[in-house]
Amino acid sequence: MKRSSPFPSPARGRQIGRDCRFGRRSRPEGEPHGCGESTCPEGADEGGSSESKSSPHPNPLPQAGEGEKHAPPKPFTVTEGHRQVRSFVLRQGRFTPAQQRAFDELWPRFGIEYDGKPRDFDAVFGRSAPRVLEIGFGNGEALRFSAARDPDRDHIGLEVHAPGVGRLLNALAEDDARNVRLYHHDAVEVLANEAADGSLDEVRIYFPDPWHKKRHHKRRLVQPEFAALLVRKLAPGGRLHLATDWQDYAEHMWDVLDETPGLSNRAGPRGSVPRPPWRPQTHFESRGLRLGHGVWDLLYDRS
Ligand SMILES: C[S@@+](CC[C@H](N)C(=O)[O-])C[C@H]1O[C@@H](n2cnc3c(N)ncnc32)[C@H](O)[C@@H]1O
Repeated sequence: MKRSSPFPSPARGRQIGRDCRFGRRSRPEGEPHGCGESTCPEGADEGGSSESKSSPHPNPLPQAGEGEKHAPPKPFTVTEGHRQVRSFVLRQGRFTPAQQRAFDELWPRFGIEYDGKPRDFDAVFGRSAPRVLEIGFGNGEALRFSAARDPDRDHIGLEVHAPGVGRLLNALAEDDARNVRLYHHDAVEVLANEAADGSLDEVRIYFPDPWHKKRHHKRRLVQPEFAALLVRKLAPGGRLHLATDWQDYAEHMWDVLDETPGLSNRAGPRGSVPRPPWRPQTHFESRGLRLGHGVWDLLYDRS
């Protein structure tokens, strides 16, 4: 199997003046955006936002894999062409020395190494607490915010984009976060193989890659099969929260999720809710709003 390294060494290139549609003025030559064609988390917050807070924790938790030297995690294990939902393209992106250091030094503390076997999350966190899982956290702005304001719940973040993982590792260390663990891995594989059925209190998918072109719609993460997987992993009474700034993707989410057995749209058929307090307005989203996009928050209850 041939694939480009998901764990790039710091790549520097000549800055060129090509604008991306999200307003990022330039990027190193030859580097594409950090995620799908319309999104650019590279331009988003560097992880040192003003949301920085410490999150006092009732119990000091053991650290994942303490003492182990981090081997670069692989973001997926099956041949790329055979992934169930090809929702991402691995791109090098900017990878700074600080992010590299974060992987070297902080991964043992916050990272979970994917191994494709059922995971005992109580053992990972050293306690039994409700669990929130965020898919595709980008730079981790929302995950960081939520973990700090909700210390009684454990947070699991899934992301394939290495620079974003690096940024969040640094932010979590700054916050001394005790209730967050990260996978640098394909969300579909983690959910299918490591999360027990009924083990999640909440799943969040914020601004997933919209894959605009019709022929790419099958790459959208939200698909009937994936929705059924989410229903299985959510505990009864659990919650699914999605946000998008593309009306066409909101419509697609309604098409799929309103019809998914086991999910009920809290706002009624094809309904959305105002941004709830646990989701901050991120840098990425603010830029979308400046460009005149709407934002749709969709909340589903697991029956
Ligand atoms: C448009 S970005 C949004 C990032 C972030 N949620 C935000 O609101 O700023 C979508 C992110 O989902 C990640 N992603 C896409 N498919 C994924 C998958 N199957 N597993 C894990 N992450 C994925 C991409 O790498 C990208 O960072």
